[in-house]
Amino acid sequence: MDIELISYIICGIIPVIYLFIYIMNENTKTKKKRNYLYGFVVAIVIALILLAIKLLVFTLVIDKKKEDNNATTTTTTVVTTEETTTTKKTTTTVKTTKKTSYDYSKILEPTGGEVIGKTSKGYEIKKVDGLYYVDGYLIANKTFDLPENYNPGGMNKVVSEAANKMFAAAKAEKGFNLYNASGFRSYSTQKTIYNRYVSRDGKDKADTYSARPGYSEHQTGLAFDVCDKNVGACITSGFDKTEQAKWLSENAHKYGFILRYVKGKENETGYMYESWHFRYVGTELAEKLYNNGDWITVEEYFGISSSYDTKPIGA
Ligand code: DAL
Ligand code: ZN
Repeated sequence: MDIELISYIICGIIPVIYLFIYIMNENTKTKKKRNYLYGFVVAIVIALILLAIKLLVFTLVIDKKKEDNNATTTTTTVVTTEETTTTKKTTTTVKTTKKTSYDYSKILEPTGGEVIGKTSKGYEIKKVDGLYYVDGYLIANKTFDLPENYNPGGMNKVVSEAANKMFAAAKAEKGFNLYNASGFRSYSTQKTIYNRYVSRDGKDKADTYSARPGYSEHQTGLAFDVCDKNVGACITSGFDKTEQAKWLSENAHKYGFILRYVKGKENETGYMYESWHFRYVGTELAEKLYNNGDWITVEEYFGISSSYDTKPIGA
């Protein structure tokens, strides 16, 4: 039995027993009677002390919970609907948990979360602290968005190390001077960039080459745009025909990177071809998507969409 319940029973019953005996023994000697009264008082005092201890522990637990809540904010939305044909009221409470801090060192190996569905190709879609993982891979495209407060502040360490290896190999094999021209971009940086393109080219056109804030792979810290110090064309289609773009397309998978926005597959990725944009997925998946030089997109491989009209569940 619960120790707390036992203490409640003892604290509640003992004073009652003493009081009962005290009242019922009207004829017993005054001294004996007084002892019962003392017993009653002592039992009440013990009960009060235990109650005080309980309140103290309760207060400490509440304080601890408040501390824990500093890490997560809970938003509660109450939706109340009233049926007009009857007097019955229905109240639905929708509770969403907004994570305010992430362990960015664990982004490539997520733990916990909930399975929210399967892709059209049967891969598991998981939601972990507002991030969407398909078959264990973090996805950011026009369907799968990222929370505004997801901000690793820079490139993932594993990814930048893999990129450095790739750049060193390109230097050793070809004498290229590749570098990361645009890596991590926060939600707000992406907002500035996207809005600038919208004012320049209009929303429809901007959507073909720039992600809306919260939808960019750059926000993950797992993707970046490659340029070469000796090539003028940087992050433009002028890079497409360069030897550097060719080498990257043929070798990036060896270092765990994929060509993310494949030529001719704009309907799958949702974006125009970008010969300079690479995303880290690890060598195992990169090898599969490389597909002996005929790149497969993430969307095609997993059976997911990339459209602002489609939400992650049921994608
Ligand atoms: N250029 C890519 C799609 C981005 O803005 O994230
Ligand atoms: Zn990019």
